[in-house]
Amino acid sequence: MATLPIVRMGNPVLRTPAIPLSPKALAAPAMQQLIDDMVETMHDAEGVGLAAPQIGLALRLFVYQADDEEVPENGIPLCVAINPTIEPVAGEPVVDWEGCLSIPDLRGLVPRHAALRLRAMDRHGVGFERALEGFEARIVQHELDHLDGVLFLDRMPELSSLAFLDEWQGFLRGPADFDARDKAE
Ligand code: NI
Repeated sequence: MATLPIVRMGNPVLRTPAIPLSPKALAAPAMQQLIDDMVETMHDAEGVGLAAPQIGLALRLFVYQADDEEVPENGIPLCVAINPTIEPVAGEPVVDWEGCLSIPDLRGLVPRHAALRLRAMDRHGVGFERALEGFEARIVQHELDHLDGVLFLDRMPELSSLAFLDEWQGFLRGPADFDARDKAE
């Protein structure tokens, strides 16, 4: 496995709508290797999610995982999602902090759907459907945006909460229930 360079805001691939992966393309050894490398890259960057455009490939694929070191059962297991779609569950949006591995060291408040249904293929091309809420639903909305060329800054209704990470940790973070919430995606 290998870690891959993460591209940053300003690279046009982050503004390019990604294209779906066929089951045949997904089955190729090189694509399976790429998925492993994306997972390793996410871990190495201490992120909780990574979408293919962030490693320079405009493909509809993302991975996410969030470990909770204090309460392991609260963690979010590794998920690989190919050609994902979401169906939001009706309800009030939830506002919470987000960061992005392609926009290092910034955090901002972003409204997201509180709950949704995720439909996608796994890395073996098998379809799955999952009802998600909370932090996992937020990660999935952030990653799906990457596949459509959208960054979390675009989702901020106003920019006054935008903060550098160290200042945010000092002044704005507040008591977090889950350390992984500090992490970028
Ligand atoms: Ni991101």
